[in-house]
Amino acid sequence: MSEIESVLVENRRFKPSAAFAKQANLSAKEYRRLCALAEKKPDVYWAQRAAELRWMKPWKKVCQWKAPFARWFVGGKLNASDNCLDRHVETWRKNKAAIIWEGEPGDERVLTYQDLWRETCRFANVLKGLGVKKGDRVTLYMPLIPELAIAMLACARIGAAHSVIFGGFTSQAIADRVEDAESGVLITADGGWRRGGIVPLKANVDDALTKTDKVKKVVVFRRTAHEVPMKAGRDFWWHELMKTADPVCPPEPCDAEQMLYILYTSGTTGKPKGVVHTTGGYMTWAHTTSKWVFDLKETDTYWCTADIGWVTGHSYVVYGPLSNGATIVMYEGAPNHPQPDRFWQIVAKYGVTIFYTAPTAIRAFMKWGDAWPKKYDLSSLRLLGSVGEPINPEAWMWYHRTIGGSRCPIVDTWWQTETGGILISPLPGVTATKPGSATLPLPGIFPRVLDAAGRECRANEGGLLVIAKPWASMLRTVYRDDERFRTQYFSSYPGLYFTGDSARRDKDGYVWVMGRVDDVIKVAGHRLGTAEIESAIVSHPTVAEAAVVGKKDEMKGEAICAFVTLRGGEKKTDSLRRDIQDHVAKSIGSFARPEMVRFTDALPKTRSGKIMRRLLRKIASGDETLGDTTTLEDLSVLARLREDEE
Ligand code: WTA
Repeated sequence: MSEIESVLVENRRFKPSAAFAKQANLSAKEYRRLCALAEKKPDVYWAQRAAELRWMKPWKKVCQWKAPFARWFVGGKLNASDNCLDRHVETWRKNKAAIIWEGEPGDERVLTYQDLWRETCRFANVLKGLGVKKGDRVTLYMPLIPELAIAMLACARIGAAHSVIFGGFTSQAIADRVEDAESGVLITADGGWRRGGIVPLKANVDDALTKTDKVKKVVVFRRTAHEVPMKAGRDFWWHELMKTADPVCPPEPCDAEQMLYILYTSGTTGKPKGVVHTTGGYMTWAHTTSKWVFDLKETDTYWCTADIGWVTGHSYVVYGPLSNGATIVMYEGAPNHPQPDRFWQIVAKYGVTIFYTAPTAIRAFMKWGDAWPKKYDLSSLRLLGSVGEPINPEAWMWYHRTIGGSRCPIVDTWWQTETGGILISPLPGVTATKPGSATLPLPGIFPRVLDAAGRECRANEGGLLVIAKPWASMLRTVYRDDERFRTQYFSSYPGLYFTGDSARRDKDGYVWVMGRVDDVIKVAGHRLGTAEIESAIVSHPTVAEAAVVGKKDEMKGEAICAFVTLRGGEKKTDSLRRDIQDHVAKSIGSFARPEMVRFTDALPKTRSGKIMRRLLRKIASGDETLGDTTTLEDLSVLARLREDEE
C-alpha cells in the first residue's frame, strides 16, 4: 500500500453556472432526493430508472443479488433496438437525425431514426438468413461507420449478442476472441480509412480465419472499395445481401438478463476476458447516465469521439444516446488528418453542443497548439466530457479554457468496461468540479476506498477503489468463466466489487482516481494487459522471456516498456529491438507497440518465481529508490539490469 501515495494538491473549484443549473436535466434538489432514495429504497430507485425504457413485459423483481451474481429486473422483457429505434420512429423523431457521420476522406451521411430503423430491420433479416439465432454470438470488426451501429442494433433486435473487436487489433486478437465467443458469423468491411491510408480489415480477418475454424460466414461492407479476395461460400457482400432482405423485422422480446453483448478486455492473464452485459440493467443505466451526465436534450448535437470497439462507444455512442433519441456525430478517422484541426472543424461544421473525448487526445491538442482550435467558432459547445484515464489538472484547465471558452462544465467520468456505464462523475448542473477529480458517485452507486486489510481509508489516504453495492449495469460474468469472474472481481474483498484502481477521497468525499494497481496498462486510453503483450513478445523466435510494465508518459498517460531476455546466442542489436516492436504491432495492433525494449540477461524474480514488476516499473521510470528487494531471487539481476541500461 506504500506505493499508493497521492501527491496531487488541487484547490480550484468550478461551480455550475446558474444558467446551466436552471436548464439541467437533473437539479441539485432532485439529485439529493435520488441519493437518499437510492440508499433507503434501492428497489424503488432502480425501478424508476428502468421505467424510462419501454418494456414488453414488466419485471417481477428489481434485483436478485447472490454475490457475486446479480440479476436485475427479473422476469421482465424488452428489446434494446426497440428502445433505440422503434420508440422514436413512432413519434415526431421519425425524421430526426440519429447519426451524422463523416468519413475521414470527407464523405458525409445523415441517417434519420427512420433510416437507421429500416437498415437495422433489413440487416437483422440478413443475420437470420445466415442462420443467426437468439443467444448466438456475432463478431463485428469494422471501421467507425454507421453500419457498425446498424449491425449491433440488428443483433440486439433478434436477441443475438455482439462481440465488437476494435479495428486497431490485428489477426491474433481476432482469432482469440472469435474462438472464445464461439462465433460463427463475422461482420467486417474491406477496409477503413485512417490517416489517409487503408486499414486492411478484410485481410486481417482472412489471416485470423487461418487460425480458427469457428467462423463459417463473413459479411463484408464495401467501404474503401479496394480489391479484396472473397472466398466463395464463406464471404458475402453486405450490399448484395441487403438487396433482397425483407424490410420487416419485429423486435424479439428479450429477457432482461438476455446477453446483449460480450466485450473483450484485458486483464491479468494473457487471455482476454469476455465481459458480459445483459439487456435490461445495462440499457437502464446507459439511458439514465446519458441523460443526467451529458444533460442530453432534444436539440443537442452530441459527439463522443470514442471508437465503438471500446466500451465508451457501446454505451455513449450507440445505446445511451440513441435510447434517448439524441442526434449523434460519428467520425471515422484520425483527429489530425489531414491537419490537427479536424475535430474543431467538425465541431464548428455540425454545431456540436456536447463533446466527449479522452485525456490523451486533449494532451495531444495542447501539444499541437492553440492556433488550431482558435481558427474555429466553437461557441456551439455547452458541455465537455473526459473518460478513460485520469486527467491531469493542466489538461483539464486547457480543455476548460481553450475548448470550453471557460463557459462549459466538464464532466470527468470514471467507469470501466465492467461497470457498463458511468459510476463516478460530476452532474453538470449540480456538482462543483475540481480539475483532476471525477468528483462524486451518481445516485445508487456506493464506492469506497479501502486499505489492504479492508479498512476504510481516511480522507486523502490512498487505497483501493471498490463498489460496495450491486448496480444495474454491472457485468454479469466473464463469458464462460464464472470462476475467473469471481476471483478477479470479488475475491479481494468478499462481496464487494474490486475495480483494480487505486484512489483517494478528499475531505469533501471527492474521488481522485490514481490508476491501475493490477497488470493493466492504459496507453492513450486503450486498455492493454501486460500478459497479452508479453505473450506476443515471447512468440518472437529470438525471445526467451519477457516482462512488460507501464511507464509514465506525458502524452499517452502510460507507455509500454518491455524487458526482454533473448535465447542463447542471440545478439542484442537495435535492429532486433525494432523487429520485436514490429512483431508486437503486427500480432496485437500498432497501438500496442512497446515504446521501449530493454534487453536483459535475466528478469528479477521472487523466490517463488514471480516477476517483480514493481521493481521493473521503477527501473523503467528511472527511479532510484527501489524499496524492499530482500525477496529477490538473485540480487545481481538488478545490478545487471542497470548495467544494461548504460
Ligand atoms: C481508467 C473505459 C481516471 C481506470 C471507460 C479504469 C479513469 C479504466 C477514468 C477502465 C477517469 C476510466 N479517471 N481513470 N475518468 N475513466 N479510467 O475498461 O483505470 O477501457 O479502471 O473503460 O480506465 O478502462 P476501460
